[in-house]
Amino acid sequence: MPGFEIFGEEEKRQIQDVLDTGVLFRYEFDQQRKGVFKVKEFEEAFAAYTGAKCAQAVTSGTAALKVGLTALGVSAGDEVITQCFTFVATWEAILEVGAIPVFCEVNETLNLDPEDLKKKITDKTKCIIPVHMLGAQAQIEEILAIANEHNIPVLEDTAQAAGGRINGKHLGTFGACGTFSFDSVKTMTTGEGGMVITNDADLWRSMSEYQDHGHDHIKNPGGRGGELRSFIGFNYRMMELQGAMGLAQLAKLDSMIVAQKKNKARLMEAASVIPGVSFRKLVDEAGDSATFMAFILQDKEHCQKVNASLAADGVGAINWASNNWHFYPRWEHLLGAKTLAKNGWPFCEPGGKRRVIYDPQAFPKSAQLMDRTLVYPVNIKMSDEQLGKMAAALKKAASL
Ligand SMILES: Cc1ncc(COP(=O)(O)O)c(C=O)c1O
Repeated sequence: MPGFEIFGEEEKRQIQDVLDTGVLFRYEFDQQRKGVFKVKEFEEAFAAYTGAKCAQAVTSGTAALKVGLTALGVSAGDEVITQCFTFVATWEAILEVGAIPVFCEVNETLNLDPEDLKKKITDKTKCIIPVHMLGAQAQIEEILAIANEHNIPVLEDTAQAAGGRINGKHLGTFGACGTFSFDSVKTMTTGEGGMVITNDADLWRSMSEYQDHGHDHIKNPGGRGGELRSFIGFNYRMMELQGAMGLAQLAKLDSMIVAQKKNKARLMEAASVIPGVSFRKLVDEAGDSATFMAFILQDKEHCQKVNASLAADGVGAINWASNNWHFYPRWEHLLGAKTLAKNGWPFCEPGGKRRVIYDPQAFPKSAQLMDRTLVYPVNIKMSDEQLGKMAAALKKAASL
């Protein structure tokens, strides 16, 4: 990560095609666009790449989550289960459709713990969102088995793991649908952008219409203005420039992952000198998209000492326990039920009664794990000098 490291002629050529037509809108302008439909082409290419039947491009990974949840019919009164270690967007989207996020512990995969999932399912659970965090797989097969027993759809948040697989099958294709982000720091980027993939043509149709104000997209003599709507929608349309970028970046995705894997292997080798170190558990090492290298130390105190030493050498790692974006106890706005809505929605019912209260201490197992975990983002390009500096700092920290 991220794809902007290798922008080149391919991206420029794709964007030039769009500028040459002057059409930035993904629909209509049939005469002017001379057959150039970049977003549509990107959707087809992304579906073919992942092996999904259908793909719907949208404006962001956050929008992708909302579009997927909406198409699955999730709304007020429902509960959606996800994990306590994820980016805030996952649960923002759940609240945005009016449902309540219910969180689960993560285990040493750093993803949703299937054992805790079993305890969290209720009659109100209408969707489960495992997240393939930091480029690697959630235990999706175990999660699906549990979800199927209860007939609950699974939406895979694959925002951080485009190109990741399990035994060759792409992440995002296991559940009812899978969502992706192409924001500016993702492995493949369109600046802002997202995608939902599914094998369910009816689900795709709902998403396609919802993200475009409900337009049914059925060609008619009145053109777009004559299209009908069978339900209300919103605007989450991707624009042609993003589709163009997506095509260029997607063509490079597998080679980006190869480069990341090589750099990650060197970082793991360097970190392995630390006494008692272990690494995040991978469901399938070959299918890791290798965007991050996570290493786990014996206890919090040791972890803090090691990271202080790494930071002093200019190569400090990320500790998610102290990062405000990704771990439940740090989400002060969720815990404090902070919202702009005067009646307290979505934390309170319209009458003002509180719908949900979150306990900051609710995830002791995950907190213990996060306290001991350090993470390096893995870039596509890492010079020998940079990797050497990191290896030397890790070796020094090993003697603490
Ligand atoms: C796990 C996860 N889900 C969703 C998103 C949202 O994606 P976007 O930034 O494209 O809205 C992100 C972005 O970082 C993410 O990491």
